[in-house]
Amino acid sequence: MTAPKLAITDSEPTKAAVDAVVVGTIQGTDGPVLAGSAEALDAAFDGGLADLLATVGASGKAEEVVTLPTLGKIAAPVLLAVGLGKAGDDGGVTEEQVRRASGAAARAVGGKKRVVTTLSTLHLGAAVEGTVLGAYTFTAYKTAVGDGPVGRVDLVAPATGTTKAHRATVKAATAIAEAVSLTRDLVNTPPNDLFPESFANRAAELAKAEGLEIEVLDEKALRKQGFGGILGVGGGSSRPPRLVRVTYKGPKAGKKVALVGKGITFDTGGISIKPAAGMDEMTSDMGGAAAVIATVVLAAKLKYPLEVTAWAPLAENMPSGTAYRPGDVLTMYGGKTVEVLNTDAEGRLVLSDAIVRACEEGPDYLVETSTLTGGQIVALGKRTMGVMGTEAFRDRVAELGRAVGENAWAMPLPEELRGDLDSRLADLANVAGHRFGSMLVAGVFLREFVAEGVSWAHLDVAGPSFHSGGAYGYTTRGGTGVPVRTLAAVLADIAANG
Ligand code: BES
Ligand code: MN
Ligand code: ZN
Repeated sequence: MTAPKLAITDSEPTKAAVDAVVVGTIQGTDGPVLAGSAEALDAAFDGGLADLLATVGASGKAEEVVTLPTLGKIAAPVLLAVGLGKAGDDGGVTEEQVRRASGAAARAVGGKKRVVTTLSTLHLGAAVEGTVLGAYTFTAYKTAVGDGPVGRVDLVAPATGTTKAHRATVKAATAIAEAVSLTRDLVNTPPNDLFPESFANRAAELAKAEGLEIEVLDEKALRKQGFGGILGVGGGSSRPPRLVRVTYKGPKAGKKVALVGKGITFDTGGISIKPAAGMDEMTSDMGGAAAVIATVVLAAKLKYPLEVTAWAPLAENMPSGTAYRPGDVLTMYGGKTVEVLNTDAEGRLVLSDAIVRACEEGPDYLVETSTLTGGQIVALGKRTMGVMGTEAFRDRVAELGRAVGENAWAMPLPEELRGDLDSRLADLANVAGHRFGSMLVAGVFLREFVAEGVSWAHLDVAGPSFHSGGAYGYTTRGGTGVPVRTLAAVLADIAANG
């Protein structure tokens, strides 16, 4: 990942000696309408810029990018008009509209040395995030690399607010975008290079660079302490499991937050093996772990007044002579027993160990995230995560997730589903005997392991954490970095409101 350089500018974009000027357009009823501070640009085209753009096909709809040669009317050779979509009832556009338009623009100007954007006059932070994330590329495994992302983006400062406030906004948004990019990098690293031990090493490097406390339990330590879920799932692989803990203690640390993320570095399904078609996408089954590690590093960078601990149970789910079997009974960390009826329901097993361990430290809040069920995708699609947990906190997290543009939707944990997890042999089984509500069943399973009194949320990001189609907005192909921005918003909200 080579992110573009960003700078705030007060100078007039008409005079900027750059490769392109980016301007936002709103989809009006009679064609495109210029958005943000574009008066001087419009004046350079004799007040007819919107009409000119309409003539070459611009409408202002979201994702639209129209290029206009400027023929010397401004210093830059081309003007890029990027659609924001329709304005809201108040005539304005949302942060997410700006984020997406900035992402589309960043992708369209790939290869250019330097551009200036006025999208930042609408929402500075959203423009930064959209720009960095839209420009994201992952080329570590390409021997022939193309032009690469845009080199530098000058962001025209919003008309209101101080320079100091603008700088702080850019700094925070850049840190958030970097955390998302780091998560994408980890998800995009193939499973032959990212396995429990190498993932733990990456986490250690990241923690050290930020001066954070880290503990890595290897298979011996896991056995000694009784992490039966992590060991059971990891048993089939030649690359043994790990449990990573990274702690950040902020200045005047207020609330204690535990972040737990599923870290299956590859999920074949194990003995209950998955079909071949699409199995390669299970390289992304550690997206939750990547997100929580990136988020604790981010918490340190932004100096949240919190104590945040990230827990990443890491294992590779493989079929082999040493693999756990359907029919096995595992004794989980803390002593509960689980009958394994399907080795492909492995995420909940590693997570339960980590959740019980995390609860020993007495967190005020526990947020767990995982690529847990295909049922999430069936229920909510590829772009909306399911949020379950204790009701008030669940609703708070879902709302925060929507506010940052990571669609999050609250889902129930129906009491009657608990009975479907009753086991002939053990305290509970790892799957129900039916396919109904499988996202919720997984949540009900996890609830059994959360300590009494802890406000918790479970974010199932099976669909949203990985994007297999073409890029849109600021979402590129492969790892998306979801739900890092939700986690960051939750931490910021707890820091501000308890
Ligand atoms: N990692 C998968 C869930 C998943 C599916 C993530 C598709 C991303 C895309 C998980 O470990 C799994 O296999 N879940 C099973 C559970 C079932 C056996 C109860 C599923 O959802 O099919
Ligand atoms: Mn699985
Ligand atoms: Zn899995």
